[in-house]
Amino acid sequence: MRGAIFYSSSYGSTAQYANWISEATGLPVFDAYASAGDPSEYDFLVLGSSVILMRMTLRKWVRANWNTIQQKPVYLFSVTGAAPDDPLIQKWLHASYPDELIARAPHHVLGGRLDLSQFNWFMRVFMFIGAYTKPTKEKRRDMLEGFDRIDRDGIAPVVEWARQIAME
Ligand SMILES: Cc1cc2nc3c(=O)[nH]c(=O)nc-3n(C[C@H](O)[C@H](O)[C@H](O)COP(=O)(O)O)c2cc1C
Repeated sequence: MRGAIFYSSSYGSTAQYANWISEATGLPVFDAYASAGDPSEYDFLVLGSSVILMRMTLRKWVRANWNTIQQKPVYLFSVTGAAPDDPLIQKWLHASYPDELIARAPHHVLGGRLDLSQFNWFMRVFMFIGAYTKPTKEKRRDMLEGFDRIDRDGIAPVVEWARQIAME
């Protein structure tokens, strides 16, 4: 079977993971919103999204391509500032994607990166104020100081799934 990776990334970390998965599997990789990649040309899909403001940034693309996605095996990965076992991630997932997709697609959470030096003054003020709405000191520190939890080895389950399904 022929597959492809479609991703949405605002600050580059999801793109980085998508490219690593592409290197490891040989699957073509497309920036979902910025390329002309057509998911209907593939038998299975790996869909990667950053999490911004409690939503998957790929959600509009998933909605726009739902008729195609509905018919194919799908693997979801999400890149986030939250810990992989944070129950909020499931909440954000359900608020972003159709229940039917979540029920059948494996989902893997990967650690993201927040580099405050990339931001303009408006975003820095936004993050500073946002930090004080956070419930724990670890989450406040993440927003005030940034973080880098990118882990190339974290892609292993996605790569394994894609290799197996490609052999079917
Ligand atoms: C404006 C903004 C909002 C964010 N909101 C969330 C959020 O609601 N939940 C979360 O877990 N991470 C959040 N993050 C952290 C991102 O998920 C993390 O930085 C991720 O690596 C971004 O992926 P990207 O580099 O592919 O855009 C946010 C980051 C920014 C800059």
